[in-house]
Amino acid sequence: MSAIKDKLIKDKLPQHIAIIMDGNGRWAMGKGMERISGHQTGVESVRRVAEACSEIGVQNLTLYAFSTENWNRPKYEVDALMELLVRTISGEMQTFIDNNIRLRAIGNLDQLPEACREELNLAMSKTSKHDGLNLILALSYSARWDILNAGKKMSNDVLQGIINPLEINENIFKSYLSTAAFPDPELLIRTSGEHRISNFLLWELAYTELYFCDKLWPDFEKDDLYTAILDYQKRERRFGLTSEQLR
Ligand code: IPE
Ligand code: IPE
Ligand code: MG
Repeated sequence: MSAIKDKLIKDKLPQHIAIIMDGNGRWAMGKGMERISGHQTGVESVRRVAEACSEIGVQNLTLYAFSTENWNRPKYEVDALMELLVRTISGEMQTFIDNNIRLRAIGNLDQLPEACREELNLAMSKTSKHDGLNLILALSYSARWDILNAGKKMSNDVLQGIINPLEINENIFKSYLSTAAFPDPELLIRTSGEHRISNFLLWELAYTELYFCDKLWPDFEKDDLYTAILDYQKRERRFGLTSEQLR
């Protein structure tokens, strides 16, 4: 039993947590290993965090697994990451079943190698009836790509007469994003001590609470997640109002 977990306020849990899982490369290099072994060990943190979210009842967990910009890394690292992705998705099916997890994905999935896309589609359809945690992988994702793509699709619908440009509002715009099915995250966690967003969920993070943790992703434990949630629960979210107005 975790003492930190016990301190969580059950009716104040975020419905959606987003995580920038950073520091795999540094973790491995620090141990004199290849960067890819950091990515491999990082999979265990993914499993721990997904289980923790399921246990406490968080509905949505979005994990930044591969950015649009990450395609520019050395080919051997990109290839190894894609292979790891295929192996992980098939290897973790039992975790998804045991925890009633539904696998989802956001990003420019057409860019993924065919084997990856097939494995992903298979796992998403196999878990589509699960109604526990939505585990949303951001793959070949960048927020600017998503926003531009939404703009293009919306312009097309305007040209087709499907929507009236004068009626476009935040809700309509949001419905064109790849995150349309999910509420905006209340909490964003980034590991590895970096304090930046790196093109992640730019629209959705407008009022998200940001939490930065110095641990490298492969070292991230369930208690680190609970600590982040506890910190979030102590904050006052004002959305532009005054404290007095909230009372
Ligand atoms: C995050 O770890 C995982 C991906 C971006 C795929 P990094 O690979 O960025 O690790 P560092 O930041 O170089 O340590
Ligand atoms: C962000 O990490 C992307 C993922 C975690 C998948 P990066 O390591 O790519 O980000 P930068 O380059 O440090 O901003
Ligand atoms: Mg990094």
